[in-house]
Amino acid sequence: MERTLCLIKPDGVRRGVVGQILERIERKGLKIIALKLTTPSADLAGQHYTYEDIAVRHGEAVRNALIKFLTSGPVVAFVVEGVSAIDNVRTLCGATEPLKAAPGTIRGDFAHHTFALTAAVGESVRNLIHASANAVDAARETALWFGPADYVTYRRADQNEHFLD
Ligand code: PPS
Repeated sequence: MERTLCLIKPDGVRRGVVGQILERIERKGLKIIALKLTTPSADLAGQHYTYEDIAVRHGEAVRNALIKFLTSGPVVAFVVEGVSAIDNVRTLCGATEPLKAAPGTIRGDFAHHTFALTAAVGESVRNLIHASANAVDAARETALWFGPADYVTYRRADQNEHFLD
C-alpha cells in the first residue's frame, strides 16, 4: 500500500477540469485520503520543486518557471492511497510532456504543449497535474503539503482493507 501526492495545477483549476481529473483517480479504485484547494506560497512551491532536484536536472530557468506557475492561482492538492499508488497515478497522468502523453491519460487527453514551446516563451509546461515520481518523493511531498490532522479514514464501498472487493 502506498500514498502519493497529486497537485491539479492552476491550469487544471482555471480550465474547470478538476472534477474530470478526480473522477479518473476515483474510478481507478484509488482512494483520496486528504484534499485541499489552496494557492501555494513561493516558499511552499520552492520546497516542492527543490533546487537540488529541478535546477540541477533541468536548470534554474525551468525551476523558476515551475514556481511562478504553481503560485499563479489555486491548486487542488490531494493524497491518494492504494496498491502501487505512485505508479498507478503516474500511469493515469501520462508522460510529463503533453506532446508525449498517450491518449487516454490525463495529460494526453487535456493538453498538447511541448517543452520546446515553454522554453521559447519562458513559461512552465501546462500539463495539468503533478504526481510524485517515486517513494522518496512521495514521502517528502505528502509531508510538505499535509499534516497528520489533514488525513481522513474511511472505507470505499467497493473495497476491503486490502483494496480487494
Ligand atoms: S516528473 O514527471 O516530475 O517525474 O518529471 P521530471 O523530469 O522529474 O520533472 C520535474 C518537473 O520539471 C518539469 N520539467 C520540465 N519543464 C520544462 N522543460 C523541461 N524540459 C522539463 N523537464 C521537466 C516537469 O513538468 C516536472 O514538474 P511536474 O509538476 O511534475 O510536471
